[in-house]
Amino acid sequence: MTNAATRDAARQLFPGGVNSPVRSFRSVGGGAIPIVRGEGALIFDTEGNRYIDYIAAFGPLILGHAPAPVVEAVRKAAGEGTAFGALTPGEVELGRRVTEATGLERIRFVNSGTEATMTAIRLARAATGRDIIVKFDGCYHGHSDGLLVKAGSGVATMGLSDSAGVPEQIAGLTAVLPYSDAPALEAWFREHGEQTAAVIVESIAGNMGLVPPAQPFLDALQSAPAKYGALLIADEVITGFRMRYGLSDLLPGADLVCLGKIIGGGLPVGAFGGSAKLMSLIAPEGPVYQAGTLSGNPLVMAAGVAMLDTLADGAPYKRADELARHLENGLNAAIKRAEVTASVVRMGSMLTLFFRRAVPTDYAEARESDTGLFARYHSAMLARGIMLPPSQFETLFVSAAHNEAAIDETVKAAHESLREIAAS
Ligand SMILES: Cc1ncc(COP(=O)(O)O)c(C=O)c1O
Repeated sequence: MTNAATRDAARQLFPGGVNSPVRSFRSVGGGAIPIVRGEGALIFDTEGNRYIDYIAAFGPLILGHAPAPVVEAVRKAAGEGTAFGALTPGEVELGRRVTEATGLERIRFVNSGTEATMTAIRLARAATGRDIIVKFDGCYHGHSDGLLVKAGSGVATMGLSDSAGVPEQIAGLTAVLPYSDAPALEAWFREHGEQTAAVIVESIAGNMGLVPPAQPFLDALQSAPAKYGALLIADEVITGFRMRYGLSDLLPGADLVCLGKIIGGGLPVGAFGGSAKLMSLIAPEGPVYQAGTLSGNPLVMAAGVAMLDTLADGAPYKRADELARHLENGLNAAIKRAEVTASVVRMGSMLTLFFRRAVPTDYAEARESDTGLFARYHSAMLARGIMLPPSQFETLFVSAAHNEAAIDETVKAAHESLREIAAS
């Protein structure tokens, strides 16, 4: 099947022709690109076109596509049975690695980041006996009802500040504050601290494009909720095991942490965890119900163990960060030469080019970016074989499987693309 035939067939089967909205490329004016194979930093579509990939499955693939240790581990696990609905040694293997690297005393594996944040909030409500949750404008925590309020990422791209189908009574329990604004957070707690169950935050915002938090905000997150008996939930679904081996280290005071993406080696995963005391509220030990037919799936656990074992000595982080720095420098030079209004922000192996003079400090500023220009840049890059995330409000992920040649090719394409869009 060609790309067009696959797309047409998919449109008959799935809403918008996809199984997750951002894959439709709607916001950049394109169509879904059906991918058949990945190898290292490269992906290939049904027609054999090759792309240097910076979507990287939206975060899990820090070792690139099909890394040998992960592939081997999954093959072996599959041969021994794909699911049992029973405790397996693989869960213990991955659980040990995750707890040792993060300092979380107890965790539970689930199937997605959405499940992790949704259940962490249920747990926070049960632990505090309060209902109100605070989130930040432009932070995305998956698609459970109460968290689909002013979420960034695909939701921002689709122009929906909320989703239809979320009852007002549920959305009304979620307060939304500006991101990286310590005074706003402190003011909230002075007025509503006693009713607030938890604050949930992306340790580094990756769903409004990459927007690093300011230190006073990180300090306020770790002091204000605690002062009023509310919990802090650090959403490290993207940043966990991405910035370093373990948690990002920006919110060491978090009561609960959500994980996903990298810890499953590219297979469906999520996890949440905290102190043994808090986690003892989860069923069957405690009254907070949570379950999953495929939770702790043996294929996922095997992939996660192989992934973490490959990351443990820190070398892949050093490599990915170095390549991302190379990309950052190249993009900055390309912006200057093409004389376009744009700025680049990077943390570790994550990076966003904003079509805005200065890098944003919050979602309101991120939204001032020229999304029309971004769409044209995206198409121009795609035509040159560079697969960027299809939204201004996403981050690029550089992997340890990229190399200098791939980065140089990307920078050359960026220079040509920026010149092209600046001229038209
Ligand atoms: C920070 C963050 N939290 C939660 C999620 C939800 O994870 P999932 O898509 O696995 O449900 C995402 C997904 O991109 C995310 O970026």
